[in-house]
Amino acid sequence: MTQDELKQKVAEAAIPYVRDVAIIGVGTGSTVNHFIDYLADFKADIEGAVSSSIASTERLKKLGIPVFDLNAVGTLDVYVDGADEISPHKHLIKGGGGALTREKIIAAASKKFVCIADGSKQVDVLGAFPLPVEVIPMARSYVARELVKLGGQPVWRENYITDNHNEILDVHNLNILNPIELEQIINNIVGVVTVGIFAMRPADVVLVSVGNDIITL
Ligand code: 5RP
Repeated sequence: MTQDELKQKVAEAAIPYVRDVAIIGVGTGSTVNHFIDYLADFKADIEGAVSSSIASTERLKKLGIPVFDLNAVGTLDVYVDGADEISPHKHLIKGGGGALTREKIIAAASKKFVCIADGSKQVDVLGAFPLPVEVIPMARSYVARELVKLGGQPVWRENYITDNHNEILDVHNLNILNPIELEQIINNIVGVVTVGIFAMRPADVVLVSVGNDIITL
């Protein structure tokens, strides 16, 4: 099976988690794109979605699924999103697609976070995937210097602006042995909007496609 077929398969496996949910939290990325396509099959049964990015919003709307502002909806029952890395503790690195801030907000506002990914995303220790950090543009160099002090090698994601009009530093060479602590430390650097470690609010359920199997963590 190709990686895209594995993404499609795991996206389908998330559908039972949202079958009786009126308004569904929807993440961002190629795995979630498949999930959105499956959602369209039963759009008559749902009220709509809250979306974590302009890209997902456009895909949802194109398929006829209404998109609501999180402020108008309140707490969500279920949020479905992908990840760039997944630890055995269901801690995640997210933000490869640049949507980490809205993703973290929706994860925080949801009762259940269902993470979907192909098996290549599973790791023992987070950090091989460069850690995305969304920053206020004028703080980029300052934050980069602070991240170097933490042992990372930040690389500016040039020519990229987030949906929130900010910039992203991708931090290489971090061996994240204590994700909760590092999430708190990076959150506290002035100018950081969001760090792509999802450990303080981890996934509740992780579905991983490996070959023909779906593994549930
Ligand atoms: C976007 C994300 C995505 O969930 C993550 O990058 C995984 O993407 P894909 O499903 O395309 O592999 O965090 O900000």
